[in-house]
Formats: sequence, structure tokens, C-alpha cells
Amino acid sequence: MSKIMDGKKVSQDIKEWIIRRTQELKDRAGVVPGLASILVGDDPASEIYVRNKRRACGRCGMLSEEYNLPEETSEQELLSLIERLNSDEKIHGILVQLPLPVHMNPAKVIRTVSPDKDVDGFHPENIGKLFQENPSAISCTPYGIEKILDYHGIEILGKHVVVVGKSNIVGKPAAALMLNRDATVTIAHIETRNLSSITTMADILIVAIGDPQFIKKEMIKDGAVLIDVGINRNESGKIVGDIDFEDVKEKASYITPVPGGVGPMTITMLLWNTLEAAEIFVLGE
Ligand code: GUN
Repeated sequence: MSKIMDGKKVSQDIKEWIIRRTQELKDRAGVVPGLASILVGDDPASEIYVRNKRRACGRCGMLSEEYNLPEETSEQELLSLIERLNSDEKIHGILVQLPLPVHMNPAKVIRTVSPDKDVDGFHPENIGKLFQENPSAISCTPYGIEKILDYHGIEILGKHVVVVGKSNIVGKPAAALMLNRDATVTIAHIETRNLSSITTMADILIVAIGDPQFIKKEMIKDGAVLIDVGINRNESGKIVGDIDFEDVKEKASYITPVPGGVGPMTITMLLWNTLEAAEIFVLGE
């Protein structure tokens, strides 16, 4: 039976640390870390993320500003808002919720966020620094995965980490982060041939493809560590991951559940990045 890695517990421990450091920053420099979240349109899943971010900011003593823009907002209006927030001293982190409506160019929007306030770690400058092993802001989901592995004392160095999924938000930065920790890294994706021959080699398997219960026990090695990034609804409306938890649980050594695994870590690492951006702002003053 595999051990369950409880993301809520790890995230609670990290939040306690964030609360202390946020208070110290207020006492020392009179600065409250501020996060601005921008949501364009009314995607229900995105609205839930933004609401959870607001609550988490409040609990950690941070300022949270929200901008809910209508679907028909022009790209130029969005870019102007981002530029205004780039020079707003109360705001240390800017998050533009993805996906954006189809009439917007996400790469251009991401490039407009100041790299110093890019708490998502999506700006090309921050992605470049991550790949050069000199990271500033690290994308929140991969960062949360690293913290959850470290918390459970799982060694990364020298391990074969297989990442399934090549998105800019999770797959690619997760692979870079694991490589920086001296893992041997393979990235597989939807076009990969004979996927099982690769996933069965993984000491640590990270799955971020958005396909409900796709990974079965035949696709993993005995004793593998499984990280499930997927959040999907199955046919009966239940929230499930990309890994078939019931099927693999006797074969894996550790597994993150869905919900309650990687999900809670993502928001916590967003607050962490916002706090760090505020601390760097104070140092640079
Ligand atoms: N959409 C899904 N995940 C994320 C994320 O981590 N950050 C942003 N900005 N949008 C997302």
C-alpha cells in the first residue's frame, strides 16, 4: 500500500512560515505583500481558482486585488491594466489567469508582466533563468511538486523522473526543476510512442495531461513515486486525477491524492512567490 502525500498538510506547514515572514516584513518595513489577479471572461474553473487565491491571501495577511474583466475586453485594455499594475507600489505580484479568450495573444500578455512581479514564473526571462539554474520566480505547480517531494524525504538526485505532459505551465518547468536537482529527466507527451515503455522506467512519475485516470498499474514501476497534477471530472461527476488511484495504490510507494495533493500546493507557492517578490522589493528600495 502506498503512502499518501497530503498536500493540504504540507501546504499548511508552509503557510505558517509565510504568515510569520509576512508579519516580519510588515513590522520591519511597513510593507504588506500585494497580489493582483486578473481574470478575463467567466470560466467557472478559473473563478474558483481566483476565489481560492483571494481567501489564501487574506489568511496569510497579504493584500489581494482582483480584476474581473468581461470576455470582450480588448488585448490593449488588458495590457494597459498590466502596465499600470507594473508601476503600482502596493502590488508585488501580478497573475493573469489562463486560459485567456481566443482573441488575445497569451505570449504577448505574459511578456508584458514585469519579470519582477511575475509570480507565476511564466515570463520568458524567468523561464530562461530557471533553465540556466539561476531561478527567480518558479512556476507554482512545479515548485509545489518539489516541496511535496522534499517534505516526504524523497531523494531526487540521480533518480529517473518521467514527466508526462509538455505544457508551459507544468510539464516543461517541472522537467527543468527536476533537472536542476540532478535527476535524469524524460518528457513524454501525447505524441509519444509506446508510452508505457517510458513510464515504467520512472522512479518518480509526474503526470499533467488532463486525461481522467489515464495511468494504470501496468504503466508504472514497482515502488514508483507518483505525482498527479490532473484535476478532472469522471463520468459520474467525481473529481479524479490523471492517475487511476485505486488501480495503482498497491504498487506505488508514494502517491499524491486528487483532490488534496498537488492542488493546494499551487496556491501556497503563489503566496510564497508573492512574499519573496515583496521582500526583494524592500531590499531594492
Ligand atoms: N491556469 C491554470 N493554472 C494556472 C496557473 O498556475 N497560473 C495561471 N496564471 N493560470 C493558470
